[in-house]
Amino acid sequence: AVAEGNYRLYYHLMPPAGWMNDPNGLIYFNHEYHVFYQHYPYASKWGPMHWGHAKSKDLVNWEHLPVALAPSENYDAGESEGYGCWSGSAVDNNGVLTLIYTGHVDGRTPTEVQCIATSTDGVTFNKAAYNPVISDAPEEGGFGFRDPKVWQHDGIWYMVIGYGKDGLGKALLYKSSDLRDWSYIGVAAESDGTMGDMWECPDLFPLGNGDDHVLVISPMNMGTTKTMYLIGRLSYETGIFDYRYSERLDYGFDFYAPQTFVDGQGRRILIGWMNIWGAQMPEQEHGWMGAFTLPRELSLSDDDGTLRILPVEELRAMRGTHHRVSNLSICADTEVPLPEIHGDALELIAIFNTNQSAGDAEFGLLLRCSEDGSEYTEVSFSAVDRKLSVDRNHSGVGEAGVCEVDLNPLEDGRIKLQIFIDRSSIELFANNGLKTVTNRIYPKPDCLGIKLFARNGEVSLESLDAWKLTTEG
Ligand code: FRU
Repeated sequence: AVAEGNYRLYYHLMPPAGWMNDPNGLIYFNHEYHVFYQHYPYASKWGPMHWGHAKSKDLVNWEHLPVALAPSENYDAGESEGYGCWSGSAVDNNGVLTLIYTGHVDGRTPTEVQCIATSTDGVTFNKAAYNPVISDAPEEGGFGFRDPKVWQHDGIWYMVIGYGKDGLGKALLYKSSDLRDWSYIGVAAESDGTMGDMWECPDLFPLGNGDDHVLVISPMNMGTTKTMYLIGRLSYETGIFDYRYSERLDYGFDFYAPQTFVDGQGRRILIGWMNIWGAQMPEQEHGWMGAFTLPRELSLSDDDGTLRILPVEELRAMRGTHHRVSNLSICADTEVPLPEIHGDALELIAIFNTNQSAGDAEFGLLLRCSEDGSEYTEVSFSAVDRKLSVDRNHSGVGEAGVCEVDLNPLEDGRIKLQIFIDRSSIELFANNGLKTVTNRIYPKPDCLGIKLFARNGEVSLESLDAWKLTTEG
């Protein structure tokens, strides 16, 4: 089936057709960005997992490449779809692009093993004849043993694997000198009892100028929280990652299984799956499903040591026609339509000043508005509650609901909202990357309007910059 329909995104990576879930094997290799992803090419549903593949020179325009990995298990697909090449990572091993992935077969014991595949041309991959490289979990009685993330430190390869035991999600640490013989070091980190019972897609990496490391996890069975990041210190001697801070990574509904990599400029870049298991996925009926988030650069804030997550600066190359609104005071209980700004591929940067707003005002933007006002997605900030929210209850088809995150105004009283609108997505970066909120929405194609609004009190909009976004493709 050729993917089509009103929900196809303009500037996000999607499978050409078929199903996509986790980002896999993100790597900067031979001066190009390569991404792989959990892929079922034959239908818009999850199935026996392949690794889809695409590359880019600029993180904006992507070229699709042939499927990199396909399941080779001799298995009766009639019984279960649960087999194939599950999530993993990639490294550059002296010019050999090496993928490390989980071989999964439902019903086999063990269900999950770790495998490698290599390529010298960056397009065709060969699975190692000696697979698996890790044939079983270190202990019996665990739940899950998958999603290897490999990196190099002082000439040694290290790997974290997602695992769960006794109701606690865990990240297991291994090391190797050749990517083939792996020795188990120990449990790098585990849930404190509140962070789910199995940690999918762990990613452990250094960030900032000090000794800090960040562990990103996608915990199973943690309620509405789907991804977390933990900050702490990693001792390569003991293998223990001692964390002192944890927070949700993204506060939207559609964000899961993110992975990071370092590029040629030394930036730590994160890409997530812009969907979530169990949701209605209206694009499925158009022959495709799934997308990546925009690439986001991570840093640790000098102010409070927590994560800042911002869109990579290359995305500015998409900025086309610009429109600016400044110094507008929005009266209580009014909506201000902005007829000059409309579309389904836009970047907006709105700066509100809460020092000039009534104490209990609630204000923000209505995005993807229909002409008759019945469809819209509301992004709002409540000054009393100090909460930022995205409301999808009038966004069209697909999942409804409101997601919320605590947010204090910046020191100068400002609330800064950077918003990327694509045909079926809204990514929000609040207060310079302090919080992000990622959601899919499925409005009618002619819902293209933008409005400002205030409730319960007036607010002052310092500025709104809007750009139409375009890519080469
Ligand atoms: C996360 C995940 C991984 C697994 C893959 C299977 O979304 O469940 O743990 O490897 O998806 O497609």
